[in-house]
Amino acid sequence: MSEHETADITRVVDSVLRSRRSLRAYRTDPVPRELLAEILEVAASAPSNSNTQPWQIHAVAAAPKATLSAALLAAFHEGTLPPSLHFPDPLPAEYAQRQQDFGARYYQSLGIDVADMAGRARQTARNFDFFGAPVGLIFTIDQRLAPHSWLDLGLLVQNVMIAATARGLGTCPQVSFARFHPVIARHLALGEHELTVCGMSLGYPQHDAAVNHIAMPRRAVREFANFDGFE
Ligand SMILES: Cc1cc2nc3c(=O)[nH]c(=O)nc-3n(C[C@H](O)[C@H](O)[C@H](O)COP(=O)(O)O)c2cc1C
Repeated sequence: MSEHETADITRVVDSVLRSRRSLRAYRTDPVPRELLAEILEVAASAPSNSNTQPWQIHAVAAAPKATLSAALLAAFHEGTLPPSLHFPDPLPAEYAQRQQDFGARYYQSLGIDVADMAGRARQTARNFDFFGAPVGLIFTIDQRLAPHSWLDLGLLVQNVMIAATARGLGTCPQVSFARFHPVIARHLALGEHELTVCGMSLGYPQHDAAVNHIAMPRRAVREFANFDGFE
């Protein structure tokens, strides 16, 4: 590959990586099945330990998506499921501080006061209609595997987001679904070993929605990486 070709690829790949954002407002335009299949096909190039590919994806649109969303919203409002375990309680201070910063930016973009718990709960509920996106994805893993296999699934999830972004689509990865595994398992007739890890909204973004323009800050490289033995 020539230097020019490499530079072009670097520019394109970096731009797709940097432009991906979690999007939470979508147009209603449907996403063709062939386009989604193409995204999943390229995303499946993700590496996995010993090529085990321990993932399953359930894609829902139209009536099946509406039925699943209705069941999830009902369960959310009932509030009878155990609380989410995806973060420890209490969250260590460093992470709690970033989580608070996320909340401040997120709710501000929506005009919701951080002290308005009812407003926040209404926004949390939007997770379950996939923020109005025409496609909902549920990612499951074979729960007989060890925690390291979740890393494989994470790589697939990122690939789906990047392949979608490169095609003008938007996504939001959502762990909110994990807590509702029993509802999802029933509605999607999941196999006995499948465990819901996360969901994802996918569709054409509403570019003018302020919530789609939150620039979440990142830690500087020097804060999270050590370099040793370099010139
Ligand atoms: C594993 C994972 C789970 C997430 N779960 C949710 C979720 O349930 N609901 C939501 O609105 N955003 C969710 N997010 C999006 C994060 O809030 C978002 O990635 C983070 O704030 C950084 O912003 P960015 O994706 O726009 O760069 C999740 C992200 C990841 C990676």
